[in-house]
Amino acid sequence: MADTEFTPRVFSGIQPSGGLTLGNYLGAMKRFVDMQEAGGFQTIYCMVDLHAITVWQNPSDLKKNTRELCAGFIAAGIDPEKSILFNQSQVPEHAQLGWLFNCVARMGWMGRMTQWKDKAGKNAENASLGLFAYPALMAADILVYHATHVPVGEDQKQHLELTRDIAAKFNHDFGVEFFPIAEPVIEGAATRVMSLKDGTKKMSKSDPADASRINMTDDADAISKKIRKAKTDPDPLPDSLKELDARPEARNLINIYAALAEIEPQAVLDQHQGALFGHFKMALSDLAVAKLAPISTEMARLMQDQAEIDHILGRGAERAREIAAPILAQAYDIVGMVRS
Ligand code: TYM
Repeated sequence: MADTEFTPRVFSGIQPSGGLTLGNYLGAMKRFVDMQEAGGFQTIYCMVDLHAITVWQNPSDLKKNTRELCAGFIAAGIDPEKSILFNQSQVPEHAQLGWLFNCVARMGWMGRMTQWKDKAGKNAENASLGLFAYPALMAADILVYHATHVPVGEDQKQHLELTRDIAAKFNHDFGVEFFPIAEPVIEGAATRVMSLKDGTKKMSKSDPADASRINMTDDADAISKKIRKAKTDPDPLPDSLKELDARPEARNLINIYAALAEIEPQAVLDQHQGALFGHFKMALSDLAVAKLAPISTEMARLMQDQAEIDHILGRGAERAREIAAPILAQAYDIVGMVRS
């Protein structure tokens, strides 16, 4: 089914399960802002609190993290008038469509998800049922809006393929062309930002080592200290990206620079070839502080007005429901639920 039949609509989500990292910002949020500004799409962004509780969340931390994430979205440039910004649990249609998709998706599909295997680990018997069903709810997040485009980082690619499979199976099983086959949008220099301590590991909020990541709440001092201490190698920067293939830490810093400066990674090498890391890290640190410190300052300012954040989330949820409710009603009808 060609997605041109559907209104061009962007949906993406971030879990409020801890602080935002530079990986979330460059891989997702900054690109959400670009899509908001590009025009041509309706943009819908969600704090996926129902996904967060698939692993244990302290209730008061979850509330604080949801509000902080909302402040992060706004500080990064999401305008709650231009985009619809809300938290998932205030729009019950996500969980309702998620149930239908639990009955469409197959156990085997879920069991093949690498994030399930990584997160459940050897202790799958003890993982929550919600963690296993996580990707079906994610498909519902997207498809309850008939979203056509989903900007995400590289680590979400497999979940989006599953979303497409769920949409196709639903359409096929019921003989309809109801759900779009949504396009993943995984673009730019920073679709996989790596740990500052190990260039083969993803930068993650769950890494126990704080020095492995830049948090969006870090101040200028913390940002520059972490970049200065980032793992690198003794060789100068080469003139071509090919020569960075075996130097993952170096490649990561080049990608971060490129994404922050909004230039191609090769252009970073053109500017810095021959430089030693001591020097390049100073340039990267100046750039990172210039781009990120204003966001953390603005987040802190917004966090002082909790009522305003809650108001924005409530209003966003109302607008989201206006789109989601009729789509859910049609899906229920297609499946055979009596609506009286
Ligand atoms: P989450 O909360 O883990 O991450 C949010 C977004 O940040 C991206 N990301 C990264 N990008 C580049 N480098 C990194 N190191 C890095 N770490 C995280 C993620 O790819 C993601 O785009 N399952 C999703 C949340 C979700 C969702 C959705 C996304 C729920 N429903 C519907 C899109 C559409 C997740 O756990 O993201």
